[in-house]
Amino acid sequence: MRTLIFDTDIGVDDAFALAYAARTQRLLGITTVFGNVAVGQAVKNARLFCEKMQIDAPIYRGCARPLALAPSEPAKLHGEDGLGDAFDNAYSDMAPGAVQFIIDSVRAQPHEITLVAIGPLTNIASAINQAPDIIPLVKELVIMGGAFGTDGHSGNVTPFAEFNIWKDPHAADQVLSSALKVVVMPLDVTHKVLISGQEVRQLNQPVLNAIVRPYLAYSLQKEGFDGMALHDTLAIAWLCQPEAFQLAEGPLRVITEGIARGQTVRKLSALASREDPFRDVPAQRVALGVDAAQVRDHFLRTLNDRSE
Ligand code: BDR
Ligand code: CA
Repeated sequence: MRTLIFDTDIGVDDAFALAYAARTQRLLGITTVFGNVAVGQAVKNARLFCEKMQIDAPIYRGCARPLALAPSEPAKLHGEDGLGDAFDNAYSDMAPGAVQFIIDSVRAQPHEITLVAIGPLTNIASAINQAPDIIPLVKELVIMGGAFGTDGHSGNVTPFAEFNIWKDPHAADQVLSSALKVVVMPLDVTHKVLISGQEVRQLNQPVLNAIVRPYLAYSLQKEGFDGMALHDTLAIAWLCQPEAFQLAEGPLRVITEGIARGQTVRKLSALASREDPFRDVPAQRVALGVDAAQVRDHFLRTLNDRSE
């Protein structure tokens, strides 16, 4: 069991990941960021979801916009409110600052805190920019984001870019090329771990069942599939079952401009080149293979278990 700061733009799959994290890890705090929804809505969603799921963790308000780009529209896939428009939400959108919380917590508990980031990486980039001394003190940063093209999984916003990275490519590039110890769960693996609508409905989880309905309806209409990729849950799956993943290692960067904006790239060539954008960039780990059945089974069992 790890001590986590859970950084989220809380939409439907983030909520699934949070439910899984609450049952398998120690939650030190939930930091919110814009992405699937505006940051104020993310604060409200985190409050509502924690209340309904009896998750006890303080909630913080993070960045409202990307580091350098103009803000873009929230995602529609998760419903207008990000949680499937399933519940009235009268919670406050005010909360203490997320970036300062990350900095203070890592300094207070050096080498103890695992950061899990399942939205745009703006809070994490802001924290390491404001307090670079925390970089070696973070135990590990696990990210859901990016796409490296395995089996054609190269993007979900554009043919090149995954949503979380596309939303703030500058933040992602700073984080991935930093000396943080990063593990990336990209679309290459998250698109392989699917659960059906039937499996969600059979879960002993009325709140999850309620928030997922529009997401499943959208998927059925667009893809003809009554189900969803677990996406953000894989960041927690890595902490629970690292043996279920095959990792590659190498320096990573993000394309910040042009048609491939938001594309995550990995150094593949060992040849020396005169202009090397990977020069002095530390190697990070990225999951390119997954035992989908193992991850699904553990997730479904954990969420079905009434005793936890
Ligand atoms: C990511 O995009 C978001 O909509 C999901 O919550 C997930 O973090 C998948 O590309
Ligand atoms: Ca997310």
